[in-house]
Amino acid sequence: MAASRLPDADLEGIEGVRMTWNNWPRTKVEASKCVIPIAASIQPIHPHVDLQVLPYPPLRCKTCSAILSPYCRVDFTALIWMCPFCYQRNHFPQHYQSISQTNLPAELYPNFPSIEYTIPSYPQNPQNFNTSTTVCPIYLFVFDTCLLEEELDFAKSALKRAIGMLPDNAMVGFVSYGTQVQVHELGFSEMSKVYVFRGSKELSKGQVLERLGLGAAGRRVGPGIQKGGDGLNPLGGVPNSGINRFLLPASECEYTLNSLLDELGTDQWPVAPGKRPLRCTGVALSVAAGLLGASTLGTGARIIALVGGPCTEGPGSIVSKDLSDPGRSHKDLDKDAAPFFKKAVNFYEELGKQLVSQGHVLDVFASALDQVGIAEMKVAIERTGGLVVLAESFGHSVFKESFKHIFEDGERSLGLSFNGTLEINCSKDIKIQGIIGSCTSLEKKGPAVANTVIGQGNTTAWKMCGLDRNTSMTVFFDISSNEKSDPSGTNPQLYIQFITSYQSPDGQTRLRATTVTRRWVDGAVGTEDLVSGFDQEVAAVVMARLASYKMEMEEGFDATRWLDRNLIRLCSKFGDYRKDDPSSFTLNPCFSLFPQFMFNLRRSQFVQVFNNSPDETAYFRILLNREIISNAAVMIQPSLISYSFNSLPAPALLDVSSIGADRILLLDSYFSVVIFHGTTIAQWRNMGYQNQPEHQAFVHLLQAPHDDAELIIRDRFPVPRLVVCDQHGSQARFLLAKLNPSATYSNVHEMAAGSDVIFTDDVSLQVFIDHLQQLAVQAS
Ligand SMILES: *[C@@H]1O[C@H](CO)[C@@H](O)[C@H](O)[C@H]1NC(C)=O
Ligand SMILES: *[C@@H]1O[C@H](CO)[C@@H](O)[C@H](O)[C@H]1NC(C)=O
Ligand SMILES: *[C@@H]1O[C@H](CO)[C@@H](O)[C@H](O)[C@H]1NC(C)=O
Ligand SMILES: *[C@@H]1O[C@H](CO)[C@@H](O)[C@H](O)[C@H]1NC(C)=O
Ligand SMILES: [Zn+2]
Repeated sequence: MAASRLPDADLEGIEGVRMTWNNWPRTKVEASKCVIPIAASIQPIHPHVDLQVLPYPPLRCKTCSAILSPYCRVDFTALIWMCPFCYQRNHFPQHYQSISQTNLPAELYPNFPSIEYTIPSYPQNPQNFNTSTTVCPIYLFVFDTCLLEEELDFAKSALKRAIGMLPDNAMVGFVSYGTQVQVHELGFSEMSKVYVFRGSKELSKGQVLERLGLGAAGRRVGPGIQKGGDGLNPLGGVPNSGINRFLLPASECEYTLNSLLDELGTDQWPVAPGKRPLRCTGVALSVAAGLLGASTLGTGARIIALVGGPCTEGPGSIVSKDLSDPGRSHKDLDKDAAPFFKKAVNFYEELGKQLVSQGHVLDVFASALDQVGIAEMKVAIERTGGLVVLAESFGHSVFKESFKHIFEDGERSLGLSFNGTLEINCSKDIKIQGIIGSCTSLEKKGPAVANTVIGQGNTTAWKMCGLDRNTSMTVFFDISSNEKSDPSGTNPQLYIQFITSYQSPDGQTRLRATTVTRRWVDGAVGTEDLVSGFDQEVAAVVMARLASYKMEMEEGFDATRWLDRNLIRLCSKFGDYRKDDPSSFTLNPCFSLFPQFMFNLRRSQFVQVFNNSPDETAYFRILLNREIISNAAVMIQPSLISYSFNSLPAPALLDVSSIGADRILLLDSYFSVVIFHGTTIAQWRNMGYQNQPEHQAFVHLLQAPHDDAELIIRDRFPVPRLVVCDQHGSQARFLLAKLNPSATYSNVHEMAAGSDVIFTDDVSLQVFIDHLQQLAVQAS
């Protein structure tokens, strides 16, 4: 049985699970005194180095259906295992007969919290039992043509490159749109046929199928797309009358699609002076969803939409057709002065539901200077587990490199998977409030469902139509017990099992069981055990996710005040101090970084939303919710590295005093990576010192931050924007906005020469901490 564990960033590496608290309070009352919610950030299909994949189905507890794990107590002589969730004793089946203490089956290896099973996709076919069938994924491209010629060319070449990278057996379809929607038949290279839909009118799924000739007669629900079938009609339709007129294996339609793209021009519909182009993104996506509805239910499929501007026609419109109307801002949303917003959100909510019921994903690649409606589409993207990338042009590296990345194979592959389902089992007295992240509640009730709901709740099972290796989500827990005594006997450990079934990129059906244990502690006895189990990085990210969620859900929610109040409560509970003596205040190292995280969170794009458009905010939040903890932490509190002649590159304080004339700084704020040259460095560079052979050291100094930036950019999706700038240059704001304003007008004379001044009335970190200490020692 596992001993209690210290909080450890490595847990994310071993388990794919990190928790705010690693030692749990026993009762609901004690849990509420902990201030920071009990929550776990989980990566359901985290890439373990030594993940065991078993070619047989899992053993399940006959009472609660939990899966056999290293935490089950085993009687090797009687061949019985005891379920740690419900204490049921289960017999091992025949084929486990030879197991013993020294001959453990992989499921029981200690320190292997995760195990994966390959599941035959079609168990009704017994001879297939051990040769897992594979299912080919479908990529349906939805392509905006209301673009300037140049943007259209960028988008077309990105798409051509993508199609060339798809595996041969991937199924491809193509829908283009502007003022109207065109669904292209790819089945014939000679006389290709196009089905046109009006952009102004919403169509039901049935109407879409009828119009495409895929009504009851044209459609046949077959057993999915199977490799090694007859090879002729992979979608099980009648030749050339079914859906395989629209969806073809990449290898068969690449030529047709490329010539189609060559001929595709910008939308021909006239645009009146002073008006926006009529762009029917909503109808295009709904036609695409309808088309996919004709494929076999549950077959992995994604709609990949390339959108170059706002929807102005039909359902999903986000702004009027008049250019003089600037479109909604955060202020408008706050004042309920965004007439299109709610209607568009409702439309995308319905579209999301349809896609989830079909098991399909919506990915949006938005490239425009204008807002395109990510804020409205967010619900459909998140509920289906879709990807989103926001860039300013289809020619920008943020779009080009990110788009390429999703089709990449091998080491750089994102591991895009489909049709995921997550189920959670936990020890008695643990209740699940819900999940913030890319998933949809499957509304499966059970004893572990909490009364209060956060995010997708009221359930113990969730759908993840799309997920990848790094997909993360936050599970919020509650404790139901009000008693101090352990109701289940003497077991000081609690258990949680995450069971994820999904279709892997190579088309196999997999089932992953990750079982974790943590320790119960009695908070009334003392806070020592709670303190040692606190993971402040996870706590900061969870508070950011929860604050963002509340800002969206609760009218008039004041995030700054809420964060401040919680931070003060946390510090007065867990700090060491003499009452009413601020100078005596200290924090245990397990908490000591947390106030600074909160300081940066208050200043971040997640709380100061008015500096951004609603589309940007929606984009930042989707990624905050779905990224792994270390990436999400950088979004809140960027990392800063300093390069100079006299020392090795070193982490620098996120403070304006880190700027120096003879230094280069590298800032990683997740969405952008900034290389910032101090004035002296910039001068030398402008004078060309790096071209003189005696200045090799300068060459290296200039190059080092670029190499490090490249490493960050290469591994990240979406690809961050790279900003290279000089002190006092216009782009320097990308760095300055993230730095603690320790030097402002008021105290500029105290600062070292060569540092910079931030023009702001924000409080500095020191002022913030001083206030915090004063309030913490007097509260309660
Ligand atoms: C999709 O997932 C569900 C639930 O896990 C499963 O029943 C179904 O068979 C899956 N579909 C495919 C095509 O794998
Ligand atoms: C475990 O999960 C299954 C399926 O969701 C559910 O039927 C069962 O009640 C759960 N058991 C416990 C102890 O939570
Ligand atoms: C949760 O389920 C209950 C009963 O099934 C329902 O009344 C309630 O509205 C649901 N809450 C949410 C937030 O979905
Ligand atoms: C996925 O996570 C790993 C760390 O676990 C990280 O190195 C990698 O860059 C991440 N990939 C993406 C695309 O974010
Ligand atoms: Zn059980």
